[in-house]
Amino acid sequence: MPDGSGTATGSDRGAREFDVVVLGAGSGGYACALRAAQLGLSVALVEKDKLGGTCLHVGCIPTKALLHAAEVADSARHAERFGVRASLEGVDMAGVNAYQDGVVSRLFKGLEGLVRSRGITVVEGHGRLVGPRTVEVDGTAYVGRHVVLASGSRSRSLPGLEVDGTRVLSSEHALHLDRVPESVVVLGGGVIGVEFASVWRSFGAEVTILEALPHLVPAEDEQSSRALERAFRKRGIRFHTGTRFESVKVTGSGVVVTVEGGATHEADLLLVAVGRGPVTDGLGYDEQGVAMDRGFVTTDERCRTSVSGVYAVGDIVPGLQLAHRGFAQGVFVAEDIAGLEPRPVAESSIPRVTYSEPEVASVGLTEAQAREQHGDAVSSLTYDLGGNGKSQILGTQGFVKLVRVEDGPVVGVHLVGSRVGELVGEAQLIVGWEAHPEDVAPFVHAHPTQDEALGEAHLALAGKPLHAHA
Ligand code: NAI
Repeated sequence: MPDGSGTATGSDRGAREFDVVVLGAGSGGYACALRAAQLGLSVALVEKDKLGGTCLHVGCIPTKALLHAAEVADSARHAERFGVRASLEGVDMAGVNAYQDGVVSRLFKGLEGLVRSRGITVVEGHGRLVGPRTVEVDGTAYVGRHVVLASGSRSRSLPGLEVDGTRVLSSEHALHLDRVPESVVVLGGGVIGVEFASVWRSFGAEVTILEALPHLVPAEDEQSSRALERAFRKRGIRFHTGTRFESVKVTGSGVVVTVEGGATHEADLLLVAVGRGPVTDGLGYDEQGVAMDRGFVTTDERCRTSVSGVYAVGDIVPGLQLAHRGFAQGVFVAEDIAGLEPRPVAESSIPRVTYSEPEVASVGLTEAQAREQHGDAVSSLTYDLGGNGKSQILGTQGFVKLVRVEDGPVVGVHLVGSRVGELVGEAQLIVGWEAHPEDVAPFVHAHPTQDEALGEAHLALAGKPLHAHA
C-alpha cells in the first residue's frame, strides 16, 4: 500500500494508493498530512503551488511581517515620546519586501523539511476529485482510503469590480508594492481592510476605509469596534461606515471611487477587501456528489462531507476562515482516520485576532450574542488598560471586556490595545474550560504585563477589584 516518500510529478500513469490523499497543502491540508504521517498512515499531499498555501505565502505571515515593519516605523516616528532621539526618514519598500520575503522563505524551507522528514509523498500539480476516493493529477490517479479536501480560499471581489492588480488590488497584490502609496481607499472594514489600513497609515499614506455595515470589524463586540474606530480616528485613518461601494473609475493617476448616494473618494490605489471565497470550482467535488452550499463544502462536526470517506477542512468549510482553525481541523481529521476518536474542533472557542494598531482580539460570544442566547442573565465588565502598568509603559489604550452568564462561566473575552493578541491564549482557556470568574481570580498574573489586566478583570467580576476605583 504505502508508496514510499518523495516528490511525484504526477506524470507517470497508473494508480497509486495511500491511506490518505490530501488535496491542498495550506494550513488545513499540510497539518492533516503531518499528523497522519506521524500516526503511521501513508499520505499523498497534492499541491499545485507551494507547500504552506495562503497563510504562509500571501496571508498571515507576510501581512504580519508588514505590520511589524509598520510598528517599527511608528516607534521611530514617536521615539521622542520615550525620550529617544530618532526620526523616521522614510520607508524603503524594497527593504520591507526583502524582510517579509526572508521570513516567509525561512518558514517555507522549514516546512518543506518537515514534510520530507515525515515521509509524505508530495504530488506537484493540479488535483481533481475524479472518483469518490480518487484525486487525479496530470493523468495519474491517487487513490486514498480517505480523501481530505483542503483547497482553501481566494480573495473575492464584487460584481462589476475588476481587480487589475495595478490600481485596483487584492490583498495579494498589496503585499508587494514597490512604493508607499500617497493615498489608498480600502474597500471593506473587516480584518484584511483594517490591517492594511493600519500598515499604510504607519508608512505615511492617507487612508480611507469604506465599510457597508455600521462598524469597522463588524463581527467583533461593538465595544471593540468603537474602540478601534476611536484609535483609528486619532491616527488619522478616515473611515465611512454604513457606506456601500458603487463603482470605481481608474484614471491616469489613480482611482475615483463612488459610493451609494454619489459621494466620491480619490486615491492612488483601491484595495478590495470584501471577503474571501472558497476555491472549489472545477475540482470535481460537485460531480462526485459532495454536498455544497454556495461554493463551500458542507460537513458535519467531524469534518465529514456527504460522500463516505471524503473529509473537508479549512476555508472551504463554512465558518471562521482562520489558519489555526484549518490546522486544528486537519489534525482532527488525521486522528479520526487513525481511529483515535478525537474531540471535534469547537468553533466557539477559536480565538480571533486582528493585528492592526491597536490590536483587536476575542474569543467566545460578543455581549450581543450572549444576550441572544442567555437573555438578561448576562453581565459584562470592562477593565480599562489605563490602570495597567505595562499598557502605560507601551503608551497604549484599550480594555479587557469579559462577558459572563450570571453565576455561570465567562462566555466571551474581548481585548483592544497594542499587543493584546498575545493575551488571547489565556482568554481561550478561560472560555474553553468554561471557567467562572471566581476560578480565574486566584491565579497570580506576572507584573508588569498586560496579562494582569485579564487577572484584574476577573478579580473585579468575582467581586474583589484591586486596581479599580470604588
Ligand atoms: P471580512 O468578511 O472580514 O470583511 C469584509 C468586509 O467588507 C465586511 O465588513 C463587509 O461588510 C464589507 N463589504 C462587503 N461588501 C461591501 C460593499 N459593497 N461596500 C462596502 N463594504 C463592503 O473579509 P476580509 O477582511 O476580506 O477577510 C477575509 C477572511 O480572511 C476573513 O474571514 C478573515 O477572518 C480572514 N483573515 C484573518 C486575519 C486574521 O486572523 N488576522 C487576517 C486577514 C484575513
